[in-house]
Amino acid sequence: KKGEAWSARFSEPVSDLVKRYTASVFFDKRLAEVDIQGSLAHAEMLAHQQIISADDYAAIQKGMSQIQGEIAAGQFEWLLDLEDVHLNIEKRLTELVGDAGKRLHTGRSRNDQVATDIRLYMRGAIDDIDGLLRELRLALLDLAEQHADTILPGFTHMQVAQPITFGHHVLAYVEMFGRDAERMQDCRKRVNRLPLGAAALAGTTFPIDRQRVAATLGFDDVCRNSLDAVSDRDFAIEFCAAAALVMTHISRMSEELVIWMSPRVGFIDIADRFCTGSSIMPQKKNPDVPELARGKTGRVNGHLVALLTLMKGQPLAYNKDNQEDKEPLFDTVDTLTDTLRIFADMARGISVKPEAMRAAALQGYATATDLADYLVKKGLPFRDAHEAVAHAVRSCVDQACDLSDLTLDQLRAFSPLIEADIFAVLTLEGSVAARDHIGGTAPNQVRLAIQYLREKLS
Ligand code: ARG
Repeated sequence: KKGEAWSARFSEPVSDLVKRYTASVFFDKRLAEVDIQGSLAHAEMLAHQQIISADDYAAIQKGMSQIQGEIAAGQFEWLLDLEDVHLNIEKRLTELVGDAGKRLHTGRSRNDQVATDIRLYMRGAIDDIDGLLRELRLALLDLAEQHADTILPGFTHMQVAQPITFGHHVLAYVEMFGRDAERMQDCRKRVNRLPLGAAALAGTTFPIDRQRVAATLGFDDVCRNSLDAVSDRDFAIEFCAAAALVMTHISRMSEELVIWMSPRVGFIDIADRFCTGSSIMPQKKNPDVPELARGKTGRVNGHLVALLTLMKGQPLAYNKDNQEDKEPLFDTVDTLTDTLRIFADMARGISVKPEAMRAAALQGYATATDLADYLVKKGLPFRDAHEAVAHAVRSCVDQACDLSDLTLDQLRAFSPLIEADIFAVLTLEGSVAARDHIGGTAPNQVRLAIQYLREKLS
C-alpha cells in the first residue's frame, strides 16, 4: 500500500532504504492518542464553522473511536509505507469512514499537526513529572523528619567541615527538586499553546476558529505566528534543559548515596531491592540504582545537546530535521519518569546508621569554627580567634586527640578568654543547635523547614 497523501506528484517510488530512513512511525506512534485528540478537536471546529458537515464530523468521531480501540487492543496495523503516525491514522480513518476521513485534513498540515501533538504529549509528561517530583520530595521530607537530630559531618572539599544534621542535608535535595518542579511548571506555560491553524506555514484560507480548538484541547492560548508555530521546538529544548537539571540533582544525590553506602563510610544502607550482587564475589551488595541514575544523567544531558544542535541553523519554517526531535525527547521523558519513580521509592528504603555518622563527625575537628565563634563572642576579633583555634587544632593533630579532649588549662593556653562553658560549645549537639536561624542546620530549624515545605506541597 502506497501512502496516498502525496504520491501522485512523483514519477518513481522511493527505495526501501529511503522509506525506512524517512519514516518515523516506529517511534512517533507513541503520539497516537494525542494525535487523535487533536484531530477530533480540529474536526469539531471544522463542523462548527460549517467547513465540513455535521455528518462528516460524526463519521470522524465514530471512526476515531474504532481506531482508538484497535490501538488499545494492539490490533492496529502500523505501516512503514505510510511514514508516520499521522498518515497511518488518517489512512485507516478513510478506510473506515470514506470521504469524511479525507476531509479531516482540511485547513491543516502535518506541520501544525505534529507540533500540536508534541505539545499535548509534553504537557501530559510534565504533569506526570511534576507529580513524581512531589512524591520524591514527600519521601525525602519523611526521611528528614526521622533524622532531624541525627548528626553527621558536613563536608567541603570532601574534608570534614562542620557538624550538620542529616535532616538538614536531606532538605538540601528537597530544595533542589522544588526548584526543578518550578522549572517544569514554567516550561509548561510555553508548551501549552496551540500551533493548529498555522497549517503548513502561512495559515489557511478556511474560516477556522483557532481559539475554539485551543479551548477544546485545554491550551492557554494559540501560537501567534504561523511560521514560528510550525518550526520552533524551543519548548522541547527547554524541557530537556529542565530535565537535565533534575538528573543533575539526582546524580549528585546518587554520588552521595554511593559514598555513604561504601563500607569505608557506612553512613547508610539501601534496601536490597535497589541493589544487586556480583556474579563472582559472594559478599557484594552494590548500589546499582544510584550508579545507573548517575550514568543516565549523561544520556539526558546528551539529549539536550542533540535538540539544541538540531534546532541550530534551521531556516524558517518547518524542516524535516524536526522529525529528529522525538527520540531524544521521548527518551528524556522515559528516563526521567522511571528515575523519579524509583528514587521516590528508594528514599523510603534508606536506613541511616547514626552511630557511624556520629563517629565520623567526631573526627576532623568539626567544632573548630564553634570555638572561634566562642572567642569572638568573648570580644576577640574573628581573624585573631581563627588564628588561636588554628594553633589549638595543630596541637591536637600532634597529640592525636580532639578539641574536646583538651583540659580547660590546655585550652586556655591558646586563649585566656576560654572558660568552663566552652565544653558545651565543643559538643556536636551544641554546635548544630547553635545554628538556629532560617536555613541553618539546628534540629529546631529542620523541623520548621519541614513544616513549611509540607504546607507548600499540600
Ligand atoms: N513526521 C513528521 C515530523 O515528525 C511530521 C511532519 C511532516 N511534515 C512534512 N511536511 N513532511 O516532523
